[in-house]
Parts: sequence; structure tokens; C-alpha cells
Amino acid sequence: MPHALITGANRGLGLEHTRQLLERGWTITAACRNPDAASELKALDPGDGRLTLETYDAADLGAAAALAQRVDGPIDLLFANAGMMAPSTRGFGGAANADMVTEMTVNSIAPLALAEAFADQVAASEMKIIALQSSRMGSIADNTSGGAYGYRASKAALNAIGKSLSLDLKDRDIVVLILHPGWVRTDMGGPNGLMTAPESVSAQLDLIARAFNQPAMSGRFFHISGEDLNW
Ligand SMILES: NC(=O)c1ccc[n+]([C@@H]2O[C@H](COP(=O)([O-])OP(=O)(O)OC[C@H]3O[C@@H](n4cnc5c(N)ncnc54)[C@H](OP(=O)(O)O)[C@@H]3O)[C@@H](O)[C@H]2O)c1
Repeated sequence: MPHALITGANRGLGLEHTRQLLERGWTITAACRNPDAASELKALDPGDGRLTLETYDAADLGAAAALAQRVDGPIDLLFANAGMMAPSTRGFGGAANADMVTEMTVNSIAPLALAEAFADQVAASEMKIIALQSSRMGSIADNTSGGAYGYRASKAALNAIGKSLSLDLKDRDIVVLILHPGWVRTDMGGPNGLMTAPESVSAQLDLIARAFNQPAMSGRFFHISGEDLNW
């Protein structure tokens, strides 16, 4: 039975990934800031031991290593999904504030910390996939509207980290996917998003399934359609 570790599993895309992977028979370690308050996540528990909740705050750089002390065994899919968009770092004039440091920590550095903490467990699994939940807003080529300083920079940094991870983990047969989920109607995406979370997640999981034993997919930035996005 494959095992996934998903961060930001209490709502939005992470919650939906947990739901769909449980339906597909996976075992899930669902990491979130406050498991006690994660009522929607707890409601997914099939009661057969396949869902475990763990406390994880991506703003704490020691959290990934601490989590690795508590999670045993091979991890087929390490999904660094948790992310944030700080309102105060959006517009020109005052964007360079302390929230941007948190945004960089949560969106860029925390996924690297997870990869460092869990690489051995991913390498010991059958599927060996690390997925990074990036965003097309991290594409410099695609930036035609400006603004969103903290979010864009943090996702561009995540993309750079994902590329290096793909090269550094290649010898261990780990495939690193850098993913854009589409514009999705979640708390972050808002009500005008182009698709629902179930639609986005179903397409992302199909893409991830296609990456099994496909080193040529590692270190690439994918739309859910499977199309390569420009950096
Ligand atoms: N929705 C879109 O259109 C879209 C587009 C492109 C990329 N994305 C990316 O997709 C990912 C999921 O976004 P979403 O749409 O599902 O957003 P969401 O509904 O706002 O959910 C964000 C998730 O990240 C978690 N999170 C935020 N800060 C955290 C921290 N310090 N430690 C641990 N968890 C933290 C949240 O937990 P709390 O409940 O504790 O805050 C929540 O589980 C993000 O990386 C986002 O950048 C989304």
C-alpha cells in the first residue's frame, strides 16, 4: 500500500489530495499546523489505520526534521503542498516587510527542509516521488501584471530549489515534480478560480502517477494538463 506525506492537509488542495489518495487505497500522513482543529481532515479517517495526523508548521525550519523523527517507513510520495500568500507583500510600496521572510520560509525553504529530512525514506519507497506545489505565479516569463512580490519570489525560489533537488537526488532515482495546480477555487484561489479542488487534484494525481519510473519528468515545471511551463 503506497504511503504519502502531505503538508497543508487540513484544507484546500491538501485536504482534497488526502481525500482522493485515501479513496485510491493509499496510506496518508497528513501534516498540518493544528490537527486538533482539523475537523474536515479527521472526518476523512476510514478507521483502518491508513490516516495519521501530524503537527507541522512550515514557518518553523526545524519542523521537517522533527516530523521525520515521528514518521516511520518508506514514503512513496512526499507532497510539499502547504503554502501562503501574504496580503502585505502584494503591492509595490511596503512589500519588503517581515511577512515576506515568512512567505519565503513557508513557500520555498520549508519544502527544501522536507526534502532533506525525508530523502532517505522517499528513496526507500517504490514510487520515489517528491512533489512541490508551486504556482504559475512563480514563472518570471509569465509575469505580465507585476505585484505579488512575496508570493511570486517565493514560488520562483521554490522552482529553483526543485530543479536542484532533481539533479541532486537523481542518483537515488527520486523524481522531483514542480507543479502548478491551475487557478483553483480554494481559500487562497478565491471564488473566481477556474476549477474546483477535486478537478485540480484528480488531474495532479494522474500526472504524479505518470511520473513513476520516469526520470525524464524530474525537475520540470508542469501544469496539470502535463504541459511544461516556462520558468
Ligand atoms: N488555489 C490556487 O489557485 C493555487 C494556485 C497555484 C498554487 N497554489 C498552491 O497550492 C498550495 C495549496 O493552496 P490552496 O489553494 O489549497 O490554499 P489554502 O486553501 O489557503 O490552503 C493553504 C494550506 O497551507 C497551509 N499552511 C499555510 N501556512 C502554513 C504553515 N506555516 N505551516 C503549515 N501549513 C501551512 C494551510 O494551513 P492553515 O489552515 O493552518 O493555514 C492550508 O492547509 C499552496 O502552496 C499554494 O501556493 C494554489
